[in-house]
Amino acid sequence: MIEYGKNISLRPFNTFGIDVKADHLFHLRRREEISEILAHRVFTGASAGMNSVLVLGQGSNILFTNDFRGTVIRNEITGVRVLDESEESLFLEAGAGVIWQELVEYTVSHGLAGIENLTLIPGTVGAAPIQNIGAYGVEAGDVIVRINGFHLEKREWLMLGNKECGFGYRDSIFKRELRNKVLITSVVLRLSKVFRPKPDYGGIKEELAKRDITNPSIRDISDIVLQIRRAKLPDPSDIGNAGSFFKNPTVGKGEFENLLKAFPDIRYYRQGELYKIPAGWLIEHAGWKGYRLDDAGCYDRQALILVNYGRATGEEILALSEKIKSSVFNKFGIMIEREVNVI
Ligand code: FAD
Ligand code: EPU
Repeated sequence: MIEYGKNISLRPFNTFGIDVKADHLFHLRRREEISEILAHRVFTGASAGMNSVLVLGQGSNILFTNDFRGTVIRNEITGVRVLDESEESLFLEAGAGVIWQELVEYTVSHGLAGIENLTLIPGTVGAAPIQNIGAYGVEAGDVIVRINGFHLEKREWLMLGNKECGFGYRDSIFKRELRNKVLITSVVLRLSKVFRPKPDYGGIKEELAKRDITNPSIRDISDIVLQIRRAKLPDPSDIGNAGSFFKNPTVGKGEFENLLKAFPDIRYYRQGELYKIPAGWLIEHAGWKGYRLDDAGCYDRQALILVNYGRATGEEILALSEKIKSSVFNKFGIMIEREVNVI
């Protein structure tokens, strides 16, 4: 029997802790239940044409600014199974509702490499391909072989290979052409039995040196990422947030040289012809770090994270983000783009 509710509070289902309601909410626990949901009167009754659908995982990359006038389908399809195996690799299929960190823990504890740098990213496996989650020099798209899903408009099953997913930095086809059109039911990943550590980003190397580790294990890398993240990022169960609110912008050589002249201490990472500038640095140097208006704020340990200290509304957080965006533009001439999905 499918769990269904009407006029349901979404507060427990988003990490910003925003108190809005959805007209309808279904909990999807098995892929076969999709047809049952679509046969429900919500989708077949007189006002079905007006019914917009939102697929929700853990709500850790969403900001609700209003009640959701439509149907939320919360993806809770679990299960992990081995599909295939070779001397070097192991292919795993994980249900879209599996918690990402549980999958990471599964791979680390089975000696499988590939996603240890993505330790402790909140959310579900099914959301990982949407913005191609990334951290510490690794992206989900590096290991995703294909996704299985259901096209909500065409009402048909589909399978997309890695290339077809169009992965980029915090980007994929699911944020563009297929935005809100596909419900991902499972993801197939290729993990490696041969471990080549990727310690070059964000202080991993320094921590290895501190611990006197020269030949790290998969578990060492995972533990270090866990420690770094715990020190830096607010835990949504203490302070509402959705991780980085904006993406890190990139600029061309000419623009970068002008910036460097005006702000000699600007942080940057060179990427071929482009320069990536940490948005957290820009926001901090525009004076926002630690800012708070009522319960909406800019986190005092990481300026890229906007937070809800308790009773902020989605509109208040969005308004703060817009102020930050224009102030960064006025000071640096860079228009930062949102990472978080505003609904
Ligand atoms: P939701 O927030 O529920 O949904 C996000 C989007 O995906 C929505 O558009 C939704 O409609 C869609 N969606 C969700 N599930 C499905 C599905 N099964 N089928 C189709 N569409 C779907 N992100 C990073 O990339 N790197 C980080 O290091 C990182 N750190 C974070 C730290 C914190 C403290 C927090 C709170 C967030 C962080 N994030 C990070 C963002 C977030 O964890 C990821 O975007 C995650 O993938 C969101 O998963 P979710 O299940 O919560 O998705
Ligand atoms: N910085 C500041 N002030 C701040 C915050 C950052 O000056 O308040 C500067 C520092 O110089 C720091 C640099 O920005 O060295 C980068 O900061 P950090 O290492 O914290 O990473 P980030 O660029 O802010 C990105 C991702 C994170 C990911 C980390 C680790 C984006 C938008 N964010 O953050 O992803 O976990 O790198 O790889 O790319 C997310 O997407 O939600 C997310 C948390």
